[in-house]
Amino acid sequence: MKKLLTIAALLALVSCSTAPKLSEAEQEAYKFADKLIAKMTLREKLGQLQQFTTSSADITGPDGVQRDAEACVRNGEVGSFLSIRTTEEMHHLQKVAVEQSRMGIPLIFGYDIIHGCRIIFPENLGAACSWNIEAIEHAARIAAEESAAFGFHWTFSPMCDISADARWGRVSEGAGEDPYLGAKIAAAIVRGYQGDDLASDKTIAACVKHFAAYGAPQAGRDYHTVDMSEMMFRDRYLPPYKAALEAGAVTVMSSFNDFMGVPASGNRWLMHTLLREELGFTGFVVSDYNAVHEQVAHGTAADGKDAAQQAMNAHLNMDMVYGDYINHGEQLVAEGKVSESTIDQLCREVLAVKYRLGLFDDPFKYGRQDHAEVMYRPENLQYARQVAAQSMVLLKNSGVLPLKEGTKIALVGPLADAPRDQLGAWRGFGEPEHSVTIREGLEERFGRQNILYAKGSDFRAPIKGGITEALRAARKADVVLLSIGLSCKESGEATSLTDISVPEPQQALLDALKGTGKPIVVLLGTGRAMDIRNEVDKSDALLVTWHGGTMEGAAVADLVSGDANPSGHLAMSFPYCVGQSPIHYSMKTTGRPRNGIEHNEKYLSRYMHAPNEPLFPFGYGLSYTEFDYSDLQVLTPEVEMDDTVKICVTVTNRGKYDGDDVAQLYVRDVVAQTTRPMRELKGFERFSLKAGEQRTITFELPTSSLAYCHTDHSFKTDPGTFKIWVGADSNATLEAEFTVK
Ligand code: GLC
Repeated sequence: MKKLLTIAALLALVSCSTAPKLSEAEQEAYKFADKLIAKMTLREKLGQLQQFTTSSADITGPDGVQRDAEACVRNGEVGSFLSIRTTEEMHHLQKVAVEQSRMGIPLIFGYDIIHGCRIIFPENLGAACSWNIEAIEHAARIAAEESAAFGFHWTFSPMCDISADARWGRVSEGAGEDPYLGAKIAAAIVRGYQGDDLASDKTIAACVKHFAAYGAPQAGRDYHTVDMSEMMFRDRYLPPYKAALEAGAVTVMSSFNDFMGVPASGNRWLMHTLLREELGFTGFVVSDYNAVHEQVAHGTAADGKDAAQQAMNAHLNMDMVYGDYINHGEQLVAEGKVSESTIDQLCREVLAVKYRLGLFDDPFKYGRQDHAEVMYRPENLQYARQVAAQSMVLLKNSGVLPLKEGTKIALVGPLADAPRDQLGAWRGFGEPEHSVTIREGLEERFGRQNILYAKGSDFRAPIKGGITEALRAARKADVVLLSIGLSCKESGEATSLTDISVPEPQQALLDALKGTGKPIVVLLGTGRAMDIRNEVDKSDALLVTWHGGTMEGAAVADLVSGDANPSGHLAMSFPYCVGQSPIHYSMKTTGRPRNGIEHNEKYLSRYMHAPNEPLFPFGYGLSYTEFDYSDLQVLTPEVEMDDTVKICVTVTNRGKYDGDDVAQLYVRDVVAQTTRPMRELKGFERFSLKAGEQRTITFELPTSSLAYCHTDHSFKTDPGTFKIWVGADSNATLEAEFTVK
């Protein structure tokens, strides 16, 4: 009878208007889960809602309470582990779970595979600058295959947090400042990880994080307050999360920050009303590290028990690490503060994902593959080299690049031979010994005898005699390649900076080298946009290499030699100075726009001693060739609502190199119900043209893509006039317009 009631309750749940619609696969998984739940004790259900780490795992947060992992597994008090570093340990704990615990429910193992597992791709902000959606998806697929072979079922990725503030070190993990580009990338990463068959031993579960709006902390300080209107959230921050969910992501991670005054992990509007009722999410939510308990520090929970109560009732399924769920869950149910049906629903969603991963069929299939066969495949390393090259952005070139054969190169700087730093933050299982450093890449390409290496300085400290050694190398060389920027320790979580310029000892190196009169190419290694006024001023060329991953050095050699033509375009504006942060191209006009007015009229929205514009705008990137954009046409100057606007532009490669570029379509809603951005990216196409070649690019713009959040929170398109611009960056000048009737 109980079983019938459970299924009836489930069907009732599904049938009511606000419950998400379940696919057949989900219904099958839920039915399986319900059969298990019917046999489980309350403590065992709570165990499925608890995730721990182990003493030998990576620690990615404040030290948690050390627990006897095996005992917790055997007692059914844990359902998942994160950050375990060996297949052996995962399989050992899995064996304990399926053979020694009463219910024999398999564990799910998660890890932060953010930009690669063994093969490390560029940090995501860099990869985003490739604007190559297919490549980003394929890179995620490679990462998934390597992760599954390691024994992981689940990655805490994609990070979908839009951010326009380079003071926040986690911009390195996301896709930059733009919701449209960010949404395309988030969906691609989910497809790459999950593929078409979640139960395959070559795919892993994705995790949409950090829900939500974690990328907008006040003052760029990590974990800081996030406060914005629902309209701003829906227009600028929600799209990438939404796109990742629509791509089928089966898990979500709650963010550390408070959101509209309530910490995300206890925020029912976020975790249930928006995520499930509106967006139809049917998987499970894991908290970020200790984030359930951190409601106490936020001052919205009196203690761990109160925190657990709020999170459970907010519809947060799994408590990462701290332990409030397993510690207080039974008491909360006994006191009627959390219903057992709530626990059942939270447990159902976790078990359903384990079922869809195939863990009940074969708990050990992940990690059984031959590592030697899966890891570091040559074709995958070559792919990482291409992605790294396409991620790099040429911001300046006086003509010194590409370098000719036989050029004698002084290679200087702390990032020139830095196999660990080039892997960036969240480097998974990347092994520095497998890195191709910039030094190695250049020696391979130009000949060891032509590379004169001198470290010159450390990241934030001079090296005794370093400048002298660098000057000695420079004097013997035809050109200086100066590889400077930030270490991997200054990228990612808890790395907020108030100064985003290149550290002083490295600038001293540049200033000294400038005195030699030799041409200088700055190679900027970083996980964030930076204030690079001095570097631009004193260099003859500047290439942003990001933290380019395992194959960074080979990619740099490909580009500086001209074997490959730079094609990256900024996914994040480079500010004129940190005082402009946060800054992005899609800001609003204000009531007193400066609009480039040069004279210093007082009463305008401007700074007294700095421009409004960034040093380099979103979408910007140079090539060794020149691309012309011309003949912009709106083929449908007037459309009905729900029609599609057709736009075309002619692109010409009028230089002497074959190359790729990214045609970008920006739109402005001229008069709207709310203040709208000056420009918004609404389409792009990466294309290849041989020298002298010309082609027409067509954009199809459904009127639905012009929708925005109105004051009543409806999301719709208004009739009216829209301006468009098409070009190779967000300052595109080729202009036209259309009308939606
Ligand atoms: C960290 C990060 C999150 C990561 C998690 C597990 O604190 O905020 O992005 O996935 O903990 O390592």
